Amino acid sequence: MEKGRVRTARPSFLLHLHPRRVPEETIRFSLSLGLGGMAATLCLALTFTGVFQLLSYVPRMDGAYESVLQMYDQGNLAGFMRNIHYWSGNLLVIVCFLHMLRVFLTGALTGRRGINWVVGVLVFGLVLGANFTGYLLPNDQLAYWAVTIFTSMLSYVPLCGSWLVTTLRGGVDVGPVTLTNFFAIHVGILPVLLWLLLVYHFWLIRKAGGLIQRPQGEGPIKMVDAMPHLVFREFAVGLTLLSLLAVFSAIFDAPLGEPATPGNSPNPVKAAWYFMGLQELLLHLHPAFVTCLIPVLTFCVLASIPYINNAVLPGGVWFGGTRGHHVAAWSLVIGAACTTITVCIDSMLSLNSTMPDHPWLTRGVLPLLVYGALLTGWYAFFRRYTGCSRAEGTMAVMVFLTGTIVSLTIIGCWFRGEGMALVVPFLE
Ligand code: HEM
Repeated sequence: MEKGRVRTARPSFLLHLHPRRVPEETIRFSLSLGLGGMAATLCLALTFTGVFQLLSYVPRMDGAYESVLQMYDQGNLAGFMRNIHYWSGNLLVIVCFLHMLRVFLTGALTGRRGINWVVGVLVFGLVLGANFTGYLLPNDQLAYWAVTIFTSMLSYVPLCGSWLVTTLRGGVDVGPVTLTNFFAIHVGILPVLLWLLLVYHFWLIRKAGGLIQRPQGEGPIKMVDAMPHLVFREFAVGLTLLSLLAVFSAIFDAPLGEPATPGNSPNPVKAAWYFMGLQELLLHLHPAFVTCLIPVLTFCVLASIPYINNAVLPGGVWFGGTRGHHVAAWSLVIGAACTTITVCIDSMLSLNSTMPDHPWLTRGVLPLLVYGALLTGWYAFFRRYTGCSRAEGTMAVMVFLTGTIVSLTIIGCWFRGEGMALVVPFLE
């Protein structure tokens, strides 16, 4: 009797997250790649190291930079904590993006998972927001000017642009109030919202009966105990990631440039890497399209995917099958190539400066129509000539867009030099 009680008490805490038994099919690493677990581990690491940093960080314009410098004084653990916090935050953006791709490419967004996908899209927005607001806090040159650039981009948001900028900055320029605002948002608002949404995210996974499964043939589904089969795997992924992160953070310090000097901007002024795609687009398109229309459109398209008829791949099968592998590979390559070529042509011929009296047309409506036509053509090509299903066609378009995002980010980060001119890195 006593023995039985002990056996059920031990795993009951973990069973809030998992059912007692799970289909063996869903715990294979090749289905999830452990990405959701990695994201959760990073969120925990960020919360812990964030709280730790509160002991040393001074959230004031006249003390922030020095307090960050002091974290690296000998024997001070705060520098190591800052490194883990910085690298985890950046890694979380990548892991979250990959997790989103894996969910999409294994068709895990039907039924109850649809709402979880939408929750995930919001979570991704919060992760970007948390990274961005944290970016200013060291108050070095990089942070100051990246935030100046990004907040000034917001002034192009129709109707409420200038209100948004002055509210976020707490004045006309980036200054002491901006730092306080960003600190409050970064420490007090975004983490709370993120954790609330994450708890809901985990609850929805449980409600959906765990991860997506391949269509099962005849016969019963093979089940295994969540403890130890699933829980031990999760611990293995989490601990491996944390160990690698600790080693990396012990070797590589998080960057800290010169202290911010408001009158003296570096050249080029670049946004944080995860916004470089948008900054690159600013060189080609009207700012109102880049800061408002494209983000809103992206959110709407992403959020509506689960609800478009037959747009979701068969569940639990990567790329929907063997043909899907080829469709995805070609879409990624062609998407990246088309974007790179267009950026080069536009930068060399300055197409966007033609008809300067009608920037909405030449730097907004026309390029978007051309890109829309390209995507439609890509979809139609697969549907018509390769017999792809609607879901495979949708995947082709989404992976094409992924190629676009990746290439814009790479060009912005590495191929833009002084004055944001195109350069070949290392040959400058
Ligand atoms: C900090 C961010 C996130 C964390 C910590 C997180 C965590 C997790 C975990 C632990 C799982 C189960 C294991 C796995 O799939 O690897 C999962 C599944 C899922 N996630 Fe996330 N996630 C995050 C962001 C996102 C995003 C950005 C999306 C989509 C836009 C998303 C959509 C989903 C969906 C639909 C499932 C169910 C997948 C299935 O049934 O196979 N998640 N998430």
